[in-house]
Amino acid sequence: MKLTISNLLVTLAVVSGISAGCNNNKSSGNRGALASSAAEKVYVAPGEHDEFYAFFSGGYSGNLTVYGLPSGRMFKEIPVFSQFPTNGYGYSEETKAMLNTSHGFIPWDDLHHPDISQTNGKLDGRWIFVNGNNTPRIARIDLSTFETEEIIEIPNSAGNHSSSFITENTEYVVAGTRFSVPVPQQDISISEYKGNFKGALSFISVAPETGKMDLKFQIMMPGFDYDLSHPGRGKSHGWFFFTTYNTEEANTLLEVNASQNDKDFIAAINWKKIEAYVNEGGGTKMPASYAHNEYDDSTHSATTTVKKEVLTIDPTEVPGAVFFLPTPKSPHGCDVDPTGQYIIGNGKLSADLTIHSFDKMIAAIEAEKFDGEAYGIPILNFEDVLAGQVKSGGLGPLHTEFDGKGNAYTTFFISSELVKWNVETREVIDRQPNYYSVGHVMIPGGNSAAPFGKYAVAMNKITKDRYLPTGPELEHSAQLFDISGDKMQLLLDFPTHGEPHYAAGIPAEILAPRSKKIYKLEDNKHEFAILSSEDSRVERQGNEVHVYMSMIRSHFTPDNIEGIKVGDKVYFHITNHEQDFDVPHGFAVIGANNAELLIMPGQTRTLVWEPKQVGVWPFYCTDFCSALHQEMQGYIRVSPKDSDIRLQWSLGE
Ligand code: CUA
Repeated sequence: MKLTISNLLVTLAVVSGISAGCNNNKSSGNRGALASSAAEKVYVAPGEHDEFYAFFSGGYSGNLTVYGLPSGRMFKEIPVFSQFPTNGYGYSEETKAMLNTSHGFIPWDDLHHPDISQTNGKLDGRWIFVNGNNTPRIARIDLSTFETEEIIEIPNSAGNHSSSFITENTEYVVAGTRFSVPVPQQDISISEYKGNFKGALSFISVAPETGKMDLKFQIMMPGFDYDLSHPGRGKSHGWFFFTTYNTEEANTLLEVNASQNDKDFIAAINWKKIEAYVNEGGGTKMPASYAHNEYDDSTHSATTTVKKEVLTIDPTEVPGAVFFLPTPKSPHGCDVDPTGQYIIGNGKLSADLTIHSFDKMIAAIEAEKFDGEAYGIPILNFEDVLAGQVKSGGLGPLHTEFDGKGNAYTTFFISSELVKWNVETREVIDRQPNYYSVGHVMIPGGNSAAPFGKYAVAMNKITKDRYLPTGPELEHSAQLFDISGDKMQLLLDFPTHGEPHYAAGIPAEILAPRSKKIYKLEDNKHEFAILSSEDSRVERQGNEVHVYMSMIRSHFTPDNIEGIKVGDKVYFHITNHEQDFDVPHGFAVIGANNAELLIMPGQTRTLVWEPKQVGVWPFYCTDFCSALHQEMQGYIRVSPKDSDIRLQWSLGE
């Protein structure tokens, strides 16, 4: 076998998986005292609440899932980038616009890296940001409604991976391209990659009160791959750090060709300096086309604005703003400790972790001590910025989180383990195997100045034998560790949906009190809402029919409709008149080519139905809302195209 790096990795992963598997005694009666203490630590008694919320990226599900810790119970799936027939997101007329892009309507994406908003470096629980990796987008989810409120597309970007991380006052959410591309896009030979393609790092401002996003500027970096990023904080606030790989600028067989250089870079970006430059009129406006989709809680509707311009920054025109820190072996994770002093680069083909010092970086910059440049960007000396290395930590380090007590926790994919080490001494304190092949790790508040160092969740890539088999496809497996003591203790395995690429946790006491219970009916500004069932009606405009319907336990108003014809396009505008917590009603009609609607109290939703067959067709409530839920139903009569049946509607007649 020709030994390439990828088959080396595969071999090692399999070996580690097998050896980890051998130690894994699956007989549950054989764990003694340890098992019962672990069980007590994750037991949340019926009716009790979990201590933390955990938001897991759903990867290729396109959505975000919400879990409780320590129980591992799944509470919700929040639709973000994917159509979600469960509640009609992306199918209803109100929510379709959320999925508009410059490429048209996109019903899916690959969702990564959730990050919760912060104030002064601490989680404030207002919003959570996530990135769409495939068709580059950033979404903002409101954490009082748990609904996606805003999605902004990122032009000039491709494989939006080093995203969506926020600065310590949520000034910016940052989106970095993974793939470099021609900017602007053009028809050129792929072999012209080197020197011609660009990597855009985008800074999206977040309005302090409303959270509204605006693409403030894009830094046009050399054509590397930008893998992950994290903000500076505390003393390093004002900087942002991005790992790069493929500094070789290969455009084929990257598993070999992008692993030639012994060191790639961490790009250190002084965004405050660039922001000042932009505020003074710096940068170049470039034509672009990208969608900005906003959902309004009072109209219960989303709108799309197509933006036509983006401000681009040539990093060589802002001296002192961008530097490269050499970092070994195609670094993946780029993590900054809670003090903001240490920047950790996890070389995924390395055994060691590289820890850069922010103070040393500043000293080297001030002394103008450089080791050449790349495309005009100064390269610092590795030794000048290195704080130290964690030796023999494991193999294939990926991601690091912090407990706020001076310890770091790094995942090692190849050796399949979570390794705890001291940030100052860089000594390894503990290591625990993961089943199997861990990717991300999450400690609540781990990407902030003030983590909550009680639990760590390892998100594993390979499930194999951890659960009952479910055919060839298995959900991924998360593992919960108690990290409150010197040694980590494995408490629980639980399945996660899609493929989690990172998660974000927050104490329930911060978030739960903010959670909204209903939408106030009197605040409903939807143009087709009816606030009283008296206003229910059916109106025809040519072959479009608008049904203004209300719902309350346990009937629709109206529930009998006649005068619809084959070829009509029927809009059901339905307002839920309930004003009690947890009383949604559903709406489904036979033959609908989209989905159901699940309508929250006080909310209006619209479903389009295009009947193709003559007959009397039922519709019904899909959510068991009362003892008379099964009675919550109605009929709609569909007549031939040329019929002269009068439009009429009724309830109880
Ligand atoms: Cu309304 Cu079931």
